[in-house]
Amino acid sequence: MKPIGHVRSPLAGKEQIPTGAGARHEAEGVLEVLPELEAGLTDLEGFSHLYVIWAFDRAEGFDLLTTTPLDALPHGVFSTRSPRRPNPIALTVVRLLRRDGCRLHVRGLDMLDGTPILDLKPYLSSVPADELRRGWMTEAEARAGQASEPKTGAGQ
Ligand SMILES: C[S@@+](CC[C@H](N)C(=O)[O-])C[C@H]1O[C@@H](n2cnc3c(N)ncnc32)[C@H](O)[C@@H]1O
Repeated sequence: MKPIGHVRSPLAGKEQIPTGAGARHEAEGVLEVLPELEAGLTDLEGFSHLYVIWAFDRAEGFDLLTTTPLDALPHGVFSTRSPRRPNPIALTVVRLLRRDGCRLHVRGLDMLDGTPILDLKPYLSSVPADELRRGWMTEAEARAGQASEPKTGAGQ
């Protein structure tokens, strides 16, 4: 796979990215798609939200059991969003603010500046909210005394 573009994000360091229970991601930036792929963005501006599939290019190695900022207990890597995974692929839902040619202005970034973008797709949610289960995160939030209502962010 080759990147289709790169993220221009105000987030220069991992410490600037909110983590933990109820973390909200409100950072705005630009998804810069390669000019030769611009025709592929045709009709995208009608969608409010996008899936951004990207590479954890600054992660090394993986842990099959891992802890996260949400919980001191370890969980299987595939039940977390840890950057340290066998294939370092990430998924973030962003709000599309506007399109300017091959530059997509978006809100909701949780990736570092310069991150490679692998793919974009329109976000279409079809799962009713009352059918969603949040697995171990619900128990971790209860242990931490957090309401399950997010304080910030969309639970990327
Ligand atoms: C918990 S991951 C979630 C990413 C994505 N929303 C997902 O679910 O796949 C977000 C964290 O990845 C790390 N990160 C962001 N950009 C990265 C990059 N380019 N390479 C490696 N790690 C990155 C930061 O520490 C950030 O807080």
